[in-house]
Amino acid sequence: MHFFDYKGKNFYAEGVSVERIVKEVGTPVYIYSKKTLTRHFQAYDQAFAAVPHLICYSIKANSNLAVLKTFAQEGSGFDIVSGGELFRAKKAGADTRKIVFSGVGKREDEIEFALKSNILMFNVESPQEMRAIDKIAKRLRKKAGVSIRVNPNVDPKTHPYISTGLKKNKFGIETEDAFREYVYAKRSLKNVVPMGIDCHIGSQITQITPFIDALKKTTDLLARLRAEGLDIKYIDMGGGLGITYDKEEPPHPSKYGEAVIRGTKGLGVTLIFEPGRSMVGNAGILATKVVYTKKGSEKNFVIVDAAMNDLARPSLYGSYHAIKAVKANSKAEITADVVGPICESGDFLAKDRLIPEVKAGDALAVMSAGAYGFSMSSNYNTRPRAAEVMVNGKEFSVVRKREVLSDLIRGEQAAPARKAPKAGRKGAK
Ligand code: LLP
Repeated sequence: MHFFDYKGKNFYAEGVSVERIVKEVGTPVYIYSKKTLTRHFQAYDQAFAAVPHLICYSIKANSNLAVLKTFAQEGSGFDIVSGGELFRAKKAGADTRKIVFSGVGKREDEIEFALKSNILMFNVESPQEMRAIDKIAKRLRKKAGVSIRVNPNVDPKTHPYISTGLKKNKFGIETEDAFREYVYAKRSLKNVVPMGIDCHIGSQITQITPFIDALKKTTDLLARLRAEGLDIKYIDMGGGLGITYDKEEPPHPSKYGEAVIRGTKGLGVTLIFEPGRSMVGNAGILATKVVYTKKGSEKNFVIVDAAMNDLARPSLYGSYHAIKAVKANSKAEITADVVGPICESGDFLAKDRLIPEVKAGDALAVMSAGAYGFSMSSNYNTRPRAAEVMVNGKEFSVVRKREVLSDLIRGEQAAPARKAPKAGRKGAK
């Protein structure tokens, strides 16, 4: 459910016409709906209202401060994967006791930053990382809360690049090794406190079964660990719930909630979730303008001013984003490739897509772009990154300015010139 729709022929974000934003801010521009963000948070929160739970919004999906602030104000915690994300969370006013830190390659400085910030826990992904956290916590005279990210070897049936819970993936620790590591940590590492089990199996998952299969393996492990005297209080189910980009029918958080609550009944745990996409994906669009149209002998091309540097998903995963006219003036349609200006054939937003017939200067809305859109954008082809706008009812504000040319070379400088060869040496007799 989101708040982007037509009023007559004009496409609106909540109570603001996208045309107005495009006129005032320019294109390409990401537009987020605050009402959609809060609605999504509340849908999750209500799905688990009957049991102790913590929603930790996964910052990587969309890390704009205004988005983070919106969730922090709703009481959300955060899932971070870098010191940079921790910095952002703190800037957005997050309660650091509601932060979990995931990722396979946490560096020493990042672990130290997280410990000093008193986060809730680390989702540990290797035995070496466990020892590193213990050592750093000892030096800082701190106790680090830890979960092990268990790799349950469950197929989430999603795109291979975003499937993470199989043995061949780099993530987590396999169940038997995890068991041994928990017991070792409890007995031998004095500065880590095992308090949870974590499991994130992938992203854009549209069925409940893989989650429940993974949960079963997690609760089996929980029973074994408790039998060894470990005080496991949290089960972190990760993120991964899919959204509708095209015709997918992912479960509503309430259905997912029912299944998870059933699977954890009587265990006396607090449930943690790390949703990213399902919180922000359909709460954002990317508005772009047609620069040119071009007719080839085999294809029609609509060349727009947003490119793979702005929205990498179609190029990277072949993913589908619906495309709508910002002003539905024409009933005529064409089949076209919607492409950006970048010098690669992989630079497209849509292929062989039936879209409204458009001409240069018309604006288009690329839908479901709130997750992994701006956060994966780059400056490739030395293109300034897009502006970001947040709509709230009938108002909107720019929550990230469009980059300007001087931003593109910030921090760069010419290498010092090589010393000129000493005079007289060359050719001296
Ligand atoms: N927790 C962990 C440990 C994760 O690695 C991720 C996503 C999440 C939570 C949030 O998952 P979500 O609820 O958003 O599915 N760039 C890709 C998606 C990469 C997902 C990476 N990890 C895309 O555009 O589809």
